[in-house]
Amino acid sequence: MYIFLFMTFPVICPVCQFELNPCSTTDQKTWKCANNHSFDVSKQGYLNLLLANQKNSSNPGDDLKMVKAREIFLERARYLPLLERISSVLNQRINTENPSWADLGCGEGWYTRNLKDRLDFTSTTIGLDISKPAITSAARQSKSIHWQIASAANPPISNTSLDFAISLFTPLFGESTQRILKESGLFLVAGTGANHLIEMRELIYDEVNRVSFTANKSLRQYFDPIEIQELEFSWVIESEAEALELLTMTPHAWRTSPDKHSRVHSLKDKSIQAHFVIELWQSKLN
Ligand SMILES: C[S@@+](CC[C@H](N)C(=O)[O-])C[C@H]1O[C@@H](n2cnc3c(N)ncnc32)[C@H](O)[C@@H]1O
Ligand SMILES: [Zn+2]
Repeated sequence: MYIFLFMTFPVICPVCQFELNPCSTTDQKTWKCANNHSFDVSKQGYLNLLLANQKNSSNPGDDLKMVKAREIFLERARYLPLLERISSVLNQRINTENPSWADLGCGEGWYTRNLKDRLDFTSTTIGLDISKPAITSAARQSKSIHWQIASAANPPISNTSLDFAISLFTPLFGESTQRILKESGLFLVAGTGANHLIEMRELIYDEVNRVSFTANKSLRQYFDPIEIQELEFSWVIESEAEALELLTMTPHAWRTSPDKHSRVHSLKDKSIQAHFVIELWQSKLN
């Protein structure tokens, strides 16, 4: 039996927005609302709460190829310094007991499950992504997180139920994230800085865009900035396979023509830079 089935999660029905709960203690495989809308837990352990009219394509979000590449690359732990920085910010700022939180646009859940393990407190955790291959992979790897296929634009999560949320390298939705956070709830977001993977971008683009991430435009109407920090480090690419995984897991793969992709093989044994911007925002509702 899955561990998460013993916990209660602040989940709502995507059709009518009433609370959604497992049918009974004996039937935990189907979740229902008071209006009898019903959703089955998949064999991997996630709930598909994305309605057909919320999809802008038949397979929204990252595809299987991107998900696989990210899964293999992240397991190399090259981005461990970022995970550690994020856990340190949250361990300093969160002081409620057993907080509830969500990773909005969690991908295949590497940050979600590793962050949950690194937090100084036990927590109730939701991982949400619009991509079916991403959530399928996430649910296979951790049974202590409630995984949902859903859009962060319209998350099937109860109003004012979460102590904090995170969104890493995904589209940001200020209004709907504020709705699901408690009063003065925190929202940690991350994106890439001007120097991120610069050696790779110089190989595949004629002109490199040196713009750094900022959440200001998406969040400032609903959130106040609390803390902004940058993190830069470098590592040596071990193999051609690693270089290709790195390209495949990013939007750079579909922004450039496939004939340029093999250029990244030359990164083998070379140092490459990571540059991240981490921002902590607080809901203006208090
Ligand atoms: C670059 S990946 C980042 C994944 C994960 N946060 C990480 O850092 O490993 C972006 C993710 O956002 C998801 N995504 C895109 N639009 C979304 C939306 N409206 N709601 C939820 N997820 C979305 C994609 O499917 C993809 O998994
Ligand atoms: Zn319903």
